Amino acid sequence: MKRRTFLQHSLGGLAGLALPVSALAYHNNSFQSHAYSRKPFALPPLDEGKWVNGKRVFNLTLQKGESKILDDTTTETIGINQAFLAPVLRFQKGDTVKMQVTNKLEEEAALHWHGMILPASEDGGPHQAMKPGKKWVAEWKVLNEPATYFYHSHTHNHTGEQVWKGLAGQMQIVDESQDKALNLPHEYGIDDYPIIIQDRQFEESGEFFYSNQRMHKMNGMHGDTILVNGAINSELKPGTTSVRLRLHNGSNARFYDLVFSDQRAFNIIGTDGGLLEKPITINRIRLAPAERAEIIVDLSDRKPLTLVNLRGYGNVSDSRNMTVMHFNSTQSKKVKPFKIQPLVTLPNWSDVAIAQTRPMNLEMHMGPQMMFTSGGFTINGEAMDMDVINEELKANTFEIWELKNNSDMLHPFHVHNTQFKILDKNGIQPHPWEQGLKDTVTVHDNEVVRILFPTGPYQNSEVPYMYHCHILEHEDAGMMGQFTTT
Ligand code: C2O
Ligand code: CU
Ligand code: CU
Repeated sequence: MKRRTFLQHSLGGLAGLALPVSALAYHNNSFQSHAYSRKPFALPPLDEGKWVNGKRVFNLTLQKGESKILDDTTTETIGINQAFLAPVLRFQKGDTVKMQVTNKLEEEAALHWHGMILPASEDGGPHQAMKPGKKWVAEWKVLNEPATYFYHSHTHNHTGEQVWKGLAGQMQIVDESQDKALNLPHEYGIDDYPIIIQDRQFEESGEFFYSNQRMHKMNGMHGDTILVNGAINSELKPGTTSVRLRLHNGSNARFYDLVFSDQRAFNIIGTDGGLLEKPITINRIRLAPAERAEIIVDLSDRKPLTLVNLRGYGNVSDSRNMTVMHFNSTQSKKVKPFKIQPLVTLPNWSDVAIAQTRPMNLEMHMGPQMMFTSGGFTINGEAMDMDVINEELKANTFEIWELKNNSDMLHPFHVHNTQFKILDKNGIQPHPWEQGLKDTVTVHDNEVVRILFPTGPYQNSEVPYMYHCHILEHEDAGMMGQFTTT
């Protein structure tokens, strides 16, 4: 009773934008499926780098491996410093980070720092790919705000397949003193957890199933099995009864519509590029590929809890809800529940001069035309071409981009080298998880989304940044463009 009043109150300013779970046909038993045994939560190793000459240095090796993901067999995987997936990289705003990357794969690979504001030459896009056996060093001063970020393969035409096999991890920019002052959980693996959610499809043999067939290109690769940090059907025994979950959609193409099994409320405190001004209490959250959200969940009732993906949202409709992971807080240390209070002040861009407004039309050409364009995926009529710079931006200015989806699928649009503000979606305010600083936004069919962003301080007329659909199969098929900032 009390919680409900509270919930409505805190959503007051966003009336109509929250999605009540009660509106759904929700059956508690419709997600009991899997024959998979329950596994312990997989906490990725934490890598905070080593200080060398005033720089925080990370050594990252892309490698092949074999992983025990399924109960009874192994799967060929790739990873960074490990067989599958990657360590969580933690650093701070103001650090100079130096990423020393070695490609020990038998194929070319690029490694991109998703969400970072940094010089184009350090971005890890397709122009910075490493040949097999080669090294690449990226170095930049961290300008971004504390938040949860993403690093992943960005190899020309092969991003989807490489991420699927494991070339992806989480980066965290942290500020312990700020977290302490705001009373936010911040101890890695104790009250602060990376939750990288990915779906995978397996062959009979236990190997990953990945396909470039037309249908898979169109829908993007989806799988019938959900992994959290690489583990299926896992159970987290949190250290405390109030936890910070860094929800991170690391999937190639799947959109998640997440609720807890008892539909409990939680507080969203941050999105892609930073904390919100104030926590927002919700009980359901949608995340497109590459979107992140930090939430605080109260587990003090110590009841068994499951995080569930609701069927019916995204480009592929499932017949059932899916288990994401479980929580067992019977042994968790009791701590004070989270209190709503102001968090940070976001930059006020309401009066900035707009140097340029650009339309970005996201297009899929169906039917025979699909055969003649590069798979049929374009932005403003053009498919990605490594030799074409599509847009030229001026550094240190602001732009508005109008993202327009003319297809009948959902596309998560991402721009490199910036954190933007979503102004509106078809004229309406964005959802709670779309507030704050963002680098990826879902554009629904027949929707126009306006985003506003600073173009950043870096200038380079030669090396471009990317903007693209973050359904990796769409990106690989051409729904990507290049821009320089000078
Ligand atoms: Cu997450 Cu261009 O990438
Ligand atoms: Cu990116
Ligand atoms: Cu797309």
